[in-house]
Amino acid sequence: MRVQAITEFGGPDVFEEQEWETPKPGPNDVLVKVHATSVNPVDYKIRQSGSWAGVNPPAIIGYDVSGVIEAIGDGVEDFQVGDEVFYTPEIFEGQGSYAEYHIADESIVARKPENLSHEEAASIPLAGVTAYDGIITRGVAETGNTVLIHGAGGVGSLAAQISVAAGVRTIVVCSDYMEETVLEMGGEPINYMTENFVEVVEEKTEGAGVDLVFDTVGGNTMSRSLEVIKSHGRMVNIVGTVADLSRANILNVTVEFLFIERQRYVLDRLRALIERDQVKPVIDSVTKLEEVAEAHRRLEQGGVKGKIVLKV
Ligand SMILES: NC(=O)c1ccc[n+]([C@@H]2O[C@H](COP(=O)([O-])OP(=O)(O)OC[C@H]3O[C@@H](n4cnc5c(N)ncnc54)[C@H](OP(=O)(O)O)[C@@H]3O)[C@@H](O)[C@H]2O)c1
Repeated sequence: MRVQAITEFGGPDVFEEQEWETPKPGPNDVLVKVHATSVNPVDYKIRQSGSWAGVNPPAIIGYDVSGVIEAIGDGVEDFQVGDEVFYTPEIFEGQGSYAEYHIADESIVARKPENLSHEEAASIPLAGVTAYDGIITRGVAETGNTVLIHGAGGVGSLAAQISVAAGVRTIVVCSDYMEETVLEMGGEPINYMTENFVEVVEEKTEGAGVDLVFDTVGGNTMSRSLEVIKSHGRMVNIVGTVADLSRANILNVTVEFLFIERQRYVLDRLRALIERDQVKPVIDSVTKLEEVAEAHRRLEQGGVKGKIVLKV
């Protein structure tokens, strides 16, 4: 099979088109013909120096799949050849999705939303599962709550839609180029470049503050958010922090650090939201897998309006 492999750790130029043997499914695996994948920040982080993720070049990275099942192992119960599926491959074992074929344990695979093309569906799994777990599973957002989301990129733009769908007032700190999109989603944008989010949130909530903070940005956003979180509120962070969070103790705030876990039921819930048009893919552009180096360059630079999808 044709793949875009990284030949060593380094800049975007380490990608090389190579021929690899097509993997064979184990008893509980499905073999998927990959129609589309997409680029996430973890891809360029692993490309730069991915030994923390157990990746040893030459290696295939990439952590979103939308495709069609071409073969199944003897023990597979829930899928058949020909099923259209989407999922996020394991980072710590196996291979990534910048390839014509991918194998995955059936437990992490779900049926693709019927109303999405493969290109659209490939923009969802990694960012969407993280967003869902951040807002619902770990954030425990409830109807009537107010949520403050930092970032409206791949994860934040889906988190905002999930939050709005749950009946939550959704305030999103984002780049100027995402303000209109956030408004269209039913959220309330705050421009991180020109506005002080602490002041704006205080004003918007008349001093009451927010129930949940979801941080996809890092830096000092968590410590600054302590100025606008309610006592007994929750904070979910997906990027780590170096900030001083000692005030969280005084406020009885629960702080959660989240790293994506692959479970089919979360993708099934996302599919339900997508098929009801409550969550829509946010796609910057669709390009070919062969253009992966340029896609990495663009995502690393910033200014990308949603996901960059790669057609395989
Ligand atoms: N823990 C996990 O399991 C997990 C899962 C997925 C992602 N992540 C991590 O989460 C981070 C975000 O992922 P992503 O896919 O959403 O990335 P992304 O698509 O690159 O989006 C990041 C967004 O944040 C915006 N931003 C930058 N500084 C900001 C600030 N101070 N306030 C508000 N917005 C700001 C960026 O805008 P500009 O264009 O203006 O810079 C961009 O729109 C990455 O570091 C990623 O590795 C972790």
